[in-house]
Amino acid sequence: MIELKDSYNRKHDYLRISLTDRCNLNCIYCNPNGKLTYTEKSDLLTFEEIERTVDIFTSLGVNKIRLTGGEPLARKNINDLFVRLNEIKKRKPFELAITTNGLLLEDKIEELKDSGLERVNISLDSLNPYSFARITGSDELITVLKSINKAVQLGIKVKLNTVVIKGINDSELLEFCKFSIDNGINVRFIEFMPFSNNGWNNEKFIRTDEMLELIRSKYTLEKLPDTNSPAVDYQISGTNGKISFINSISDHFCSTCNRLRITPNGMLKLCLFSSQDKMLNLKRLISEIDDNVSIAAIISEYLQLKDYEHPSLENLISMNNNNMIQIGG
Ligand code: 5AD
Repeated sequence: MIELKDSYNRKHDYLRISLTDRCNLNCIYCNPNGKLTYTEKSDLLTFEEIERTVDIFTSLGVNKIRLTGGEPLARKNINDLFVRLNEIKKRKPFELAITTNGLLLEDKIEELKDSGLERVNISLDSLNPYSFARITGSDELITVLKSINKAVQLGIKVKLNTVVIKGINDSELLEFCKFSIDNGINVRFIEFMPFSNNGWNNEKFIRTDEMLELIRSKYTLEKLPDTNSPAVDYQISGTNGKISFINSISDHFCSTCNRLRITPNGMLKLCLFSSQDKMLNLKRLISEIDDNVSIAAIISEYLQLKDYEHPSLENLISMNNNNMIQIGG
């Protein structure tokens, strides 16, 4: 079997597929000016193409696939995709996960679970309805909370993703810890990252160190052993609560990167920060080449171009040049 090892001997076994760049929320840190442009529907990878993509990557040793967005559940007939992927899973087992804002999850999760969904990360930046509305433009916090509840009841593995922004939701860190304790759910605090025109500035940025200090004013934390995820995990002592920090800015976790990403229009990205010209057009390859083994060989060779690391965000920011980072997929 061809394995996905890059030129630094990093094994790539985790694939994130963005199903759409559209979203049913309008978060202030994602689309503050309402100026995002979206992939034309006709340019999206079709379910058939995604199925083939997953078939190819699982043959290359990928054992975890996460569907992301935009909002992945905003794709029409999403369960049909899960059914297709579940067939592949039976032949070549992999973990199937999604990252979602939870708005459309409650109604769909039961059938998605039956179609192989095992793990859900839910983005939730506030537990307060007013602040939730301020961040997302939606008054449906309760819908998200219900989804979380239902996912837990169904035995799906749930984590919360909370992007922490100074002056917006940093006052809720202790509330989120309590939520973690009360529900036994891992809450992951993510350092706010600067992407093109997402309103990032130094005043809105709070480092993990500061968050830790704040949380330690009330709770005792025990650091848990490192995993191969970029999150640094802590148990809240004497409780079932677990919190984590994703130090996208204050730390550099490229050396253990095992991820590949596919954009909604089927471009393979070797790094979250890859520019358009450094992506491989998988959609085209799939339409032009019938044989999966040949495509697998092309992907494997392409991976050799992966850099050891992307420029440190801390450096980019200190150069006061935070608009240069493009996100997509
Ligand atoms: N900084 C940090 N995290 C972000 N996310 C989206 N934009 C940013 C940003 N600028 C988070 C989402 C989601 C996860 C995939 O990335 O909230 O939970």
